[in-house]
Amino acid sequence: MHTVAVLSLKGGVGKTTVALGIASAALRRGTRTLVGDLDPQGNATATLDPPLTDATLADVLETPRLAVINRAIAASSWSDRLDVLVGAEELELLNEPGPDSRRMENLARALDELRAAPRGEPYELAILDCPPSLGRLTRSALIAADAALLVTEPTMYAVAGAQRALEAIEAVRAEHNPRLRPAGVLVNRLRVRSYEHQYRVEELRESFGRLVMPTAIPDRLAVQQAQGACTPIHEWNSPGAQEIALTFNMVLAKILRSNRAGRHRLSSDEPDVPSDNETTSEFPAIRAFAEHETG
Ligand SMILES: Nc1ncnc2c1ncn2[C@@H]1O[C@H](COP(=O)(O)OP(=O)(O)OP(=O)(O)O)[C@@H](O)[C@H]1O
Ligand SMILES: [Mg+2]
Repeated sequence: MHTVAVLSLKGGVGKTTVALGIASAALRRGTRTLVGDLDPQGNATATLDPPLTDATLADVLETPRLAVINRAIAASSWSDRLDVLVGAEELELLNEPGPDSRRMENLARALDELRAAPRGEPYELAILDCPPSLGRLTRSALIAADAALLVTEPTMYAVAGAQRALEAIEAVRAEHNPRLRPAGVLVNRLRVRSYEHQYRVEELRESFGRLVMPTAIPDRLAVQQAQGACTPIHEWNSPGAQEIALTFNMVLAKILRSNRAGRHRLSSDEPDVPSDNETTSEFPAIRAFAEHETG
């Protein structure tokens, strides 16, 4: 089970949209997938609309046992090949800093249990939709993840925000989870005709090189329409939806490819992210990743 955390420093940039877009692409591809909703707002859960469960992710973070995680998972209304580890408002209480840092590892523990004893066909992919902060819930996701996908809008603060998020990823990698790697920086809500947006994407590329995903998600009304109807974007019938769906296919392919390359690299010298301008990046977090990637 390849586990991807979808995060950003800022709220409302499209984490849930991206998590659900990747889930929709996975569904189209026949990939058995679990979406974990770490956001107390529960937007991913609301859109995937599973039946009521008698436990939630908040219970899993308290008690990381197989029986509890199994009670917190239900099939989504999209398909019985796409399940939800349901979110809840009570998660907010677990986002607070506190003395018990061991609890941050509980999601990783619970997902390990699920890996060891899958219910039915094992999940190939788990997507963790994070809340809009780098607090404990996001860190729980990073500790449980193999890869972290950063979402950003092409705005003035994008570089600084992505830099801080990459530093948080690097801190979790160093302290808790050596297998964690950045899946990339994904630009969302791009308006291709906007000079300002093009400029900001260039700025991101100059700062983060190939960590910036080659495909950006365009700004399209179809995203909101499909979400409002609780429908996967791949099933929404409009040219805008098709464009977005294709983009998410590419994002999913890149995530799965880099997973395979990551595993392959354990037995070869081939770097996944050649670190031409990244090793010399002015950002320590990126240098650390580049060194980790090639080292
Ligand atoms: N590419 C897009 N085109 C059009 N609308 C979009 C796009 N991406 C996101 N949106 C809209 O922007 C709003 C915020 O998106 P979303 O909920 O995915 O952000 P988020 O980062 O998960 O927010 P939060 O931080 O509150 O969890 C939603 O109404 C969503 O439909
Ligand atoms: Mg969200």
